[in-house]
Amino acid sequence: MCGIVGYVGRDNAKNVIINGLKRLEYRGYDSAGLALIVNDEIKVFKRVGKIREFEIELNRLNIYSNIGIGHTRWATHGRPTLENAHPHLSCDGKIAVVHNGIVENYAPLKEELLSKGHTFTSQTDTEVIVHLIEEELKTSKGFFEAFLKTVNRLKGSFAICAITTAEPDKLFCARKDSPLVVGLGDDESFVASDVPAFLPYTNRAVFLEDGEVAVVDRKGALFYDFSRAPVKKEVMKIPWSLAQAEKGGYKHFMIKEIYEQPRAVADTISGNTAWFKGEIPLEGIEPSSFDRVQIVACGTSYHAGLIAKFFLENFAKIPAEVDYASEYRYRNPVVNDRTLVIAITQSGETADTLAAMRLAKSKGAKLLAVCNVIGSTATREADCVIYTYAGPEISVASTKAFTTQLTALYLFSLWLARERGALGTEEVEELYSHLLEIPSKIEAFLNRERQDETVKRIALEFYKSSDALYLGRHVNYPIALEGALKLKEISYIHAEGYPAGEMKHGPIALIDEKMPVIVVATKGSIYEKIVSNMEEVKARKGKVIALLNPGSPEAEKIADYKIEVPQVEEFLSPIVSVIPLQLFAYYIADFLGYDVDQPRNLAKSVTVE
Ligand code: G6P
Repeated sequence: MCGIVGYVGRDNAKNVIINGLKRLEYRGYDSAGLALIVNDEIKVFKRVGKIREFEIELNRLNIYSNIGIGHTRWATHGRPTLENAHPHLSCDGKIAVVHNGIVENYAPLKEELLSKGHTFTSQTDTEVIVHLIEEELKTSKGFFEAFLKTVNRLKGSFAICAITTAEPDKLFCARKDSPLVVGLGDDESFVASDVPAFLPYTNRAVFLEDGEVAVVDRKGALFYDFSRAPVKKEVMKIPWSLAQAEKGGYKHFMIKEIYEQPRAVADTISGNTAWFKGEIPLEGIEPSSFDRVQIVACGTSYHAGLIAKFFLENFAKIPAEVDYASEYRYRNPVVNDRTLVIAITQSGETADTLAAMRLAKSKGAKLLAVCNVIGSTATREADCVIYTYAGPEISVASTKAFTTQLTALYLFSLWLARERGALGTEEVEELYSHLLEIPSKIEAFLNRERQDETVKRIALEFYKSSDALYLGRHVNYPIALEGALKLKEISYIHAEGYPAGEMKHGPIALIDEKMPVIVVATKGSIYEKIVSNMEEVKARKGKVIALLNPGSPEAEKIADYKIEVPQVEEFLSPIVSVIPLQLFAYYIADFLGYDVDQPRNLAKSVTVE
């Protein structure tokens, strides 16, 4: 989730682009950069850190240009350093490119370009794009042809914007699986990852679809597909205020991030495909060098750890323990050099998780970090890192970070199972193919079947409750914990998550006709057991809200309210079943009028003990 802004027009591009980048800050940033064409030369300015500091630095520069491209980076490949900040330049300095997304085939492309004599100055996947354009130019009639040839050779997701001194009045851009929108003003045009970047100047926008390119000048834009066939596009009038636009038209970041999950999970898969498929090594980890796993994490990440235990034990057949990092660090755990410690942390900065990692390391363990923020402390201290590529998560209550952690941990467990011979290649392939279906299943739940409406209706009935009980079993027991945590965090309603089979040892005493009991009753090895647990709740007059798969008459018969979730492979079901629970908590908090994105007493990243 980087932010791209391009400008061509009557104003000073430097100011317009910096203002645009500031409005894209919510997309995350660790560094920023700008390229302007000045007197037939491309001038590049970059800075690591806050965009405000970059702005102050640029304000001191007496520089004027009518065309430029800018970028705020939220690292996905390569650390947040000056060299890795965009824009990137061709060897001759005549082309500059900014990019959002992941170029999956950057490694073979880079090799090819190195062999042809190109020099690389960064560790980014983006830099191959600009060198490839330069290379293709040698055999093309004009810049646009070379740009198109390049775009056709890239695999993965990208939104690209390029400028060249050869045509100093045009912006060239392309989109595949990463957003890009053209803004049409009066004698000025814009290109951006998102509308807020240019909303103060114009509300006339043209959204690029996947597989489309645009050539933009100050008078307007021409659109083509990747084979250069012209495409007719519709100009849309954006009715949003600036604040609404930042949230993509959603009321809160939390709901926006819930809806981003199909995309986020797909990015986790594609960002980790290369090592999963064995095309590149998973650096820093030797699959046979350990015989037990300990997982440390806090909050929602801890719940991902509880599910990862199922993955590791069932697929890789390796014993796994899970601890709250804050407990692990003080319990004198048995660790040695045959222990792999997995730290799961969205931010990579949680103090207890870092302390647990350091303790494990001091006792000889190998460290794997599953993390969303590139360059964070956890990623620097770990021996091996798997990134989740969820994009910045702004809402304090974690949603897409969780589902992407599960995706990454599922991939890691399958990889480990194959490498250690616990599962055959075919079995691994089959389980992997189930994972590939997950983004479209989530998409179906949220957008096509509109089960979100069902959840909202149920939330409206229960938002005045003072307590709630969440039940699940097996791989969905941690989902009961996560559902309860979400409700507590943002709606301040007391909620407990329990393994359904354990209910008769205590919580059943709490159940009465006022108590909503949310049961994850999706199909799987313990479906019948959970149906019996639902009967027990019903017998005590509890109100049963059941998450079930289509064609579950036994559960349906008992449930007072049903939410249908698509059926998926049993071990992947948590990634889908958590979504209605995120929505349930969200709607309840919203009905209660609370500050959903910033709940009281909570912080996004807990960097103190
Ligand atoms: C805080 C956040 C939670 C998060 C937890 C762990 O409590 O509010 O959403 O799950 O920290 O954070 P981490 O960044 O380590 O995953």
